[in-house]
Amino acid sequence: MTDTTSNKMWGGRFAAGPDAIMEAINASIGFDKRMAAQDIAGSRAHAAMLAATGIITDKDAEAIGEGLLTILSEIEDGTFQFSTALEDIHMNVEARLKEVIGEPAGRLHTGRSRNDQVATDFKLWVRDQLDAFEGGLMALIRALLGQAEAGADWVMPGFTHLQTAQPVTWGHHMMAYVEMFGRDLSRVRDARARMNESPLGAAALAGTSFPIDRDMTAQALGFDRPAANSLDAVADRDFALEFLAAASICAMHLSRFAEELVIWSSAQFRFVTLSDRFSTGSSIMPQKKNPDAAELIRAKVGRIFGANTALMMVMKGLPLTYSKDMQEDKEQVFDAADNLMLALAAMEGMVRDMTGQRDNLAAAAGSGFSTATDLADWLVRVLGLPFREAHHVTGALVGMAEKQGCDLPDLTLAQMQSVHADISEGVFDVLTVENSVNSRMSYGGTAPAQVREQIKRWKGLLA
Ligand code: ARG
Repeated sequence: MTDTTSNKMWGGRFAAGPDAIMEAINASIGFDKRMAAQDIAGSRAHAAMLAATGIITDKDAEAIGEGLLTILSEIEDGTFQFSTALEDIHMNVEARLKEVIGEPAGRLHTGRSRNDQVATDFKLWVRDQLDAFEGGLMALIRALLGQAEAGADWVMPGFTHLQTAQPVTWGHHMMAYVEMFGRDLSRVRDARARMNESPLGAAALAGTSFPIDRDMTAQALGFDRPAANSLDAVADRDFALEFLAAASICAMHLSRFAEELVIWSSAQFRFVTLSDRFSTGSSIMPQKKNPDAAELIRAKVGRIFGANTALMMVMKGLPLTYSKDMQEDKEQVFDAADNLMLALAAMEGMVRDMTGQRDNLAAAAGSGFSTATDLADWLVRVLGLPFREAHHVTGALVGMAEKQGCDLPDLTLAQMQSVHADISEGVFDVLTVENSVNSRMSYGGTAPAQVREQIKRWKGLLA
């Protein structure tokens, strides 16, 4: 006796339906319904191909195609009834198709399997995310270019070890992030180009005996070509891992910048004022304006990197080809994608709206003996001292200024000459931060002229 509760899709050999716990652990519909549009697009392409190759009739293909569109609108307007018993988006759609169009629905699954179906749906979903990722990065880069252009020649301290190192320009600092997000952009583009092969038609794992046309479905879905190995096509999830890896690196970049914004917006630094639109207040301390968006961006890297690690762990021990473990790929990617897009948008908004505090930046740029290297270089260039000796002389002058509680340009010529007799008046020219940054004209250096060159180059690249 066949239990009528056994699964309609694969229950032929089953006498009983699943235990409730089995159903709970097995079902993915709770999350994979996010791929409904991709699932329907894949099925429509497959049905059209089945008709074009004469595997099903045009009439059946038409009924399937239209039925699928009806289902898509039901899903979009929220009237579709998702069922956990039907496990996943693929079987939910197919079962509903049977209700909508009847018998022809049963012909849709000819020459395919849920294994190539899920790989296709998920790839299409990830591909959309890569496109959104690209758009988010370009918007952020544009916002950074705006800041860099406005403050190409604003001086500020450059840091190593978070200790004042040498004066740099605000524009140069912004452009450093343009380079980082620019590499993220190229990683996204590389990943998209590499992943854009269609798994559809790999069927369960071995291909199919039906005379399908994989080029046709690949083209209909915007893939460059069909994946060349059916085993790989159903087993591969490295397209998702590349997305997560690129997302992790980008989130790390976002996090470093977020950390700087937290520091820069503090009362101790006052390098930047964040707009009210991207700050929050405190419920108890009326004076507070908190950089919450920056802090949350800083934290996002944890969950995005976590998703990457989790999926690596899921995949690393799986024999070819499909194993149900792979169903665990989606929630990680969905969560990472949602949070990455949010973080990118929030960073773009913060950067666009923030105000660099030019005077505070300039005041900080001159403190902390930031032109000590310029002084040492002057001793080499003008007095012909070996760099090591110049370093030593400069160190002595810094010590002297420190003891007097002043900066290097505040020392008198006589005081300087007490350390090295040949020092002359001309030394004062290199001790100003403006001259310091203007002199850094080496390619990629911090001089405003160099920064403007790089802004021009990036504008050309984004045009
Ligand atoms: N829900 C499944 C997943 O997300 C679809 C593929 C099921 N394939 C199978 N052979 N059971 O991975």
